[in-house]
Amino acid sequence: MFDDITTQASELLRLTKQRDSNSISNSKTKVIAITSGKGGVGKSTITANIAYLLSLYGKRIVVLDADIGLANMQILFNIKPKATFHEYIDNGLALKDVILDTGYKNISLCAGKSGYQYSKGTSSFLYSRVVKDIVALDEYDILLIDTGAGLNEYVKEFLSVSDEILAVTTPDPSALTDVYALLKMLSVTKRRIFLIFNQTPTYKMGENISLSLRELALKNQLNKHFVVKYIGNLPLDTNLQITSRLRKLFVKEFENSGSSLDLNEIVNNLIKEMKSVS
Ligand SMILES: Nc1ncnc2c1ncn2[C@@H]1O[C@H](COP(=O)(O)OP(=O)(O)OP(=O)(O)O)[C@@H](O)[C@H]1O
Ligand SMILES: [Mg+2]
Repeated sequence: MFDDITTQASELLRLTKQRDSNSISNSKTKVIAITSGKGGVGKSTITANIAYLLSLYGKRIVVLDADIGLANMQILFNIKPKATFHEYIDNGLALKDVILDTGYKNISLCAGKSGYQYSKGTSSFLYSRVVKDIVALDEYDILLIDTGAGLNEYVKEFLSVSDEILAVTTPDPSALTDVYALLKMLSVTKRRIFLIFNQTPTYKMGENISLSLRELALKNQLNKHFVVKYIGNLPLDTNLQITSRLRKLFVKEFENSGSSLDLNEIVNNLIKEMKSVS
């Protein structure tokens, strides 16, 4: 999967330069991508619930479902989208027509389309143009992008146009291998990455593994200025699965549960970190 990290990194660097030359520097909208490497680690669940917690701070949030494998954000928000952002890109629908009301105050959704084929080597900012255009609207405080799994051209395109990257992993060795590959690639072009440990029983366990990942990065002489910032853990919790199946948000339905308090802590850390550099 990650057999040629150097090529991946230089491609990301090229995309980032292209992004910088197009950037809308005076928009208030901050773009945060939630990504992982390995699939099924909890990106979409965490994205939807983080959106809700951020909205409670009075932030205006728009979520972009950039998973072309299995776009499922509309299920988590329990809405039936009339259009996806692909209709904006491909069929000329207006941007406003593909930014949908979720029914949750201050949260909008730009839904995705499943089953798209994205051929290797076609990265041209075709799809991530929607990110630039939402930022240019200057109507939202935060744009959260739920990327699909893996590190294909399509995911890289969305990572390259994001201000911050939030990587979700579990302590599972294959997830850690993939998150390290992600970290290695991003260390060339980004200044930092935030790490969330999902399905991880204690805060300390995630913290220790994050330290090991950082040590490994230093040992392998990755960019020493690249910051790997651990911002918290979520335990394995069946309430998460149940609420997702019922198309509800666990932080709303079980607001005082351990997992909800943990995600609150993650969001607080994220806000604090983002404030400290802006
Ligand atoms: N902390 C948790 N405890 C229990 N179940 C969880 C937890 N986090 C996620 N899940 C469950 O794991 C499954 C996968 O979660 P999710 O779809 O959010 O992952 P994903 O990373 O977005 O997957 P994909 O890579 O396919 O997009 C879902 O059934 C979800 O309810
Ligand atoms: Mg997902």
